[in-house]
Amino acid sequence: MSYTNILSDTANGIATITINRPSKLNALNSATIHELHEAFKAADDDNDVKVIVITGSGEKAFVAGADISEFADFSEEEGGKLAAQGQALLFDFVANLSTPVIAAVNGFALGGGLELAMAAHFRVASDNAKMGLPEVSLGVIPGYGGTQRLPQLVGKGRAMELIMTAGMIDANKALECGLVNHVTTQEELIPLAEKIASKIMRNSPVAISAAISAINAGFETGVDGFKAEIKQFGNCFGTEDFKEGTQAFLNKRKADFPGK
Ligand code: COA
Repeated sequence: MSYTNILSDTANGIATITINRPSKLNALNSATIHELHEAFKAADDDNDVKVIVITGSGEKAFVAGADISEFADFSEEEGGKLAAQGQALLFDFVANLSTPVIAAVNGFALGGGLELAMAAHFRVASDNAKMGLPEVSLGVIPGYGGTQRLPQLVGKGRAMELIMTAGMIDANKALECGLVNHVTTQEELIPLAEKIASKIMRNSPVAISAAISAINAGFETGVDGFKAEIKQFGNCFGTEDFKEGTQAFLNKRKADFPGK
């Protein structure tokens, strides 16, 4: 499939999705959100894809936010719809994908950009990255999950301060507070994401999906994460991957997971 605002490329089990509007610092307009939905769906449906990496084109920005020019004259109703549709199509969609998603944050990740990075399963960043949720400086609040995912990742007090001040933190500060897992140079960012992806790919894709689901369950209101874990744990025993993984261990050989 061909896209206008993004690039999607699959090699060696990794689908790399690149937001490609560098002249607008990769701001997320509606067309880009729709294309991202399609690209994430296609990658998740592709049995050859074991890990998805999401990044931004150019050296300056991952994503500098939702496209302000598109919503500046929206009504209350349109504003609510913008957030609901965006969350369903992209942010919750990514967070709940069964294929692991790594955000490679290569520059500014602001507003919807940081929200997209936070919807990914985890984040790595280059040392020039700057992150923040500056929405209150525009008279609005984060609407793509930012008020929920930022406190989950960095704690309530830090999230309150970052959101209220509309400030930005650099990559090392983000590392210190757990917003990103690793920081490296710009050149090494994608190689680092690929190195982590290759470690993930050695393991059972079915078990990884089950783990994502159980971990996410603990952050859902009204869902008992421990019960979700028990269910997912039990389900694993009925999979071919479990048979292969345990047999390979007992026979002292490397597992070759069928992914079923
Ligand atoms: N929406 C729409 N366009 C955006 C954008 C956004 N969120 N972020 C950047 N752009 C556009 C700029 O309007 C500019 O377009 P132009 O060249 O046609 O005028 C282009 O991207 C380059 O941005 P510019 O502001 O000139 O770059 P800069 O280096 O001076 O500043 C930022 C970089 C990230 C600090 C600044 O672009 C910014 O504050 N962006 C908005 C961040 C934000 O509030 N995001 C939350 C949105 S809810």
